[in-house]
Amino acid sequence: MKKFVIACYLFFCCLSLALAQEVKVSDARFCKGDNAAWSAAGFDDSAWPVLSLEKNWDDQGVRITEDYGWYRIHVVIPSVLKNGASGLVLLDLGPIDDADQTWFNGQLVGKTGSMPDDPDGYSSQWSTPRRYIVDAGKVRWDKDNVIAVRVYNGGDPGGFFERPVRIAKPGLSDVVTLSLTGEKDACRMKLRSAMKTSGTLEVCISEPVVGDVSGKLEEKAPVVQKVKLSPGKETVLSWPVPEQGRIKVTYRDDRFDGMLSARYAAPYILTPPAPATPRYNGPLVFGVRPGSPVIFRLAFSGEKPMVYDVEGLPEGVVLNPSKGVLSGSVAEKGDYPLVLVARNAHGEARQAFTLKVGDQIALTPPMGWNSWNCWGLSVSQEKVMASAAALINRGLADYGYAYINVDDAWEAEERAADGSIVCNEKFPDMKGLGDWLHGNGLKLGIYSSPGDRTCGGYLGTLDHEKQDAETWNSWGVDYLKYDWCGYSKVFRAQSDKSTASYVRPYLKMQEYLRQQPRDIFYSLCQYGMADVWTWGHAVDANSWRTTGDITDTWKSLYNIGFQRQTELYPYAGPGHWNDPDMLVVGKVGWSDHLRDSRLTPDEQYTHITLWSLLAANMLIGCDIAQIDDFTFNLLCNNEVNAVNQDILGRQAHRDVNEDGMQIWSRPLADGGTAIGIFNLNDDDVPVNLAGALAKIGLTGLSTVRDLWRQQDIPVDAVYTIPTHGVRFIKVK
Ligand code: GLA
Repeated sequence: MKKFVIACYLFFCCLSLALAQEVKVSDARFCKGDNAAWSAAGFDDSAWPVLSLEKNWDDQGVRITEDYGWYRIHVVIPSVLKNGASGLVLLDLGPIDDADQTWFNGQLVGKTGSMPDDPDGYSSQWSTPRRYIVDAGKVRWDKDNVIAVRVYNGGDPGGFFERPVRIAKPGLSDVVTLSLTGEKDACRMKLRSAMKTSGTLEVCISEPVVGDVSGKLEEKAPVVQKVKLSPGKETVLSWPVPEQGRIKVTYRDDRFDGMLSARYAAPYILTPPAPATPRYNGPLVFGVRPGSPVIFRLAFSGEKPMVYDVEGLPEGVVLNPSKGVLSGSVAEKGDYPLVLVARNAHGEARQAFTLKVGDQIALTPPMGWNSWNCWGLSVSQEKVMASAAALINRGLADYGYAYINVDDAWEAEERAADGSIVCNEKFPDMKGLGDWLHGNGLKLGIYSSPGDRTCGGYLGTLDHEKQDAETWNSWGVDYLKYDWCGYSKVFRAQSDKSTASYVRPYLKMQEYLRQQPRDIFYSLCQYGMADVWTWGHAVDANSWRTTGDITDTWKSLYNIGFQRQTELYPYAGPGHWNDPDMLVVGKVGWSDHLRDSRLTPDEQYTHITLWSLLAANMLIGCDIAQIDDFTFNLLCNNEVNAVNQDILGRQAHRDVNEDGMQIWSRPLADGGTAIGIFNLNDDDVPVNLAGALAKIGLTGLSTVRDLWRQQDIPVDAVYTIPTHGVRFIKVK
């Protein structure tokens, strides 16, 4: 019994010591405005009111927009935090909306985001947690210390908002940061430390075995090396990475427990180059309503110049033989069988095709580009034109990409005197843009909201539905993305919360769109509320977003792609598609600052494969003018895209979900089946292909088509599916 009491006593002593490893502070003195003197440790802030650090200042009756506010956080730091190897203290401030500079006892210790007066101007970092390190020698142990935080707020809301501020002993990842970046086939590591320390680096390179088609990577013997780190000095090392190779770097510190690790995978191209002879890569069918303009560009790859011909054209439709662009209109409903022909110096290609003049458009999912995932609210007509021109010059239009969609931020601050919507100064000539696109067989898309405001805070369509539909028609708009956003205000104010009240704004716009003398693809964007897939057809929508916004992380792709689409396959079909949001490959950024997608190369193969299987809208989200070979290979594989554009229009079903492996399959119009075998695990997994196919009832096959590699591969073999990667095959 005595032993038990002593054990309990020791346990609680250890626990309270452990608890004393940090101090939390929930409020601070606060003042609006900006004054350099407020950073000083001795400044008398006793007259300043107290604000909570767990709620933004707007929720506490303070409003500051495009201006500054200062917090002064007082904290007694117990000397128990002094013990330990590092001699450093961590200020864990949490996220701050939008940019900050922070002083500890009068000394500047950190800055995140930037202010309008900074050389590059203002940039928000509202969601980034601030973790600043201070030297333990600067702490006044067991006495009052002051953390002064200067905050700039670009727009509502502002300030600290998430959680109490924490002062603690830093961990390894607070002191040392390790990053890996790659360009082409080389990988660069940067190691930084906030203190003098040392440790061991372990570098593992994996590469494919020459001549082995299984996809297995062989891990070379790790290279181990000692490193010495000191503050302000960066350790930079780089290694060549073999094609399709990967590199893993691990750092273990001599003073801190734990380890840091990072991986880099080199992009690798699977799609074989297109032949120089003409090859058709587009959809096999095109739907247009009687009397509506036919806008269609023949999608042939191959060396240019090319001359085009179309056999069987109905009256009213003409072909531009040097551009391969169809225009005109057809009065009579009916299926018109055509033969699309292209010739160049190397030969000729012919493709049977159906022009379907009837009530239904979007007979295959839309393919094109949208400005949001790259430019966000910084979109301009010039940037849109750059992507549109590159769609043609870089050859993406030869694979069926046709829509050029302007997302939010084209709208002026106010409507014209007659109530009509107008473009802001970034879009000097929207009609001119439409005319240029149509002349090249491409189509113009636009964005608005049924509310008074869009998500980006621009003018919405509320109470101007008819007028806006007419204006868009006059500009030549062929696609409308109609985003709920500001409509939530209207919705909140009404007592009716039934499905009908979700349908209402979309039904209203549908009526006016259909009154226009052109086909306008109707894209609903309301994130899947009220099971939109069950009533999207009823408002004649051509697609509906099924989830919130995608971003370029595995978490987002996994959640949207693998968790949220499984039950939706019954609702897709020609004319009506589930939309899991736009593509996040290539250079994205949602702002003026673009960067490479943060998805690994294998995650990007998975993304495009899954979107093809899901018969999803294929809207490229990167700047096409800056497209690289790897991204082109992802977007322009004719066999992969043929699955997305298959005229049966059946969305894939998830057949197997076990041990982190998923098999999705979709039947195709030619009687074949497209199958994706996905590895969602964090390690590579060897898969016996015959065994995997048997799980979905496919036996007795000797070869199948590997769609990415465009190669027949034996079934009786083991293939390594990389972590977060896929084998995409077709069975005839
Ligand atoms: C919402 C949509 C996005 C984009 C933005 C524009 O977030 O879901 O796709 O259109 O609005 O503000």
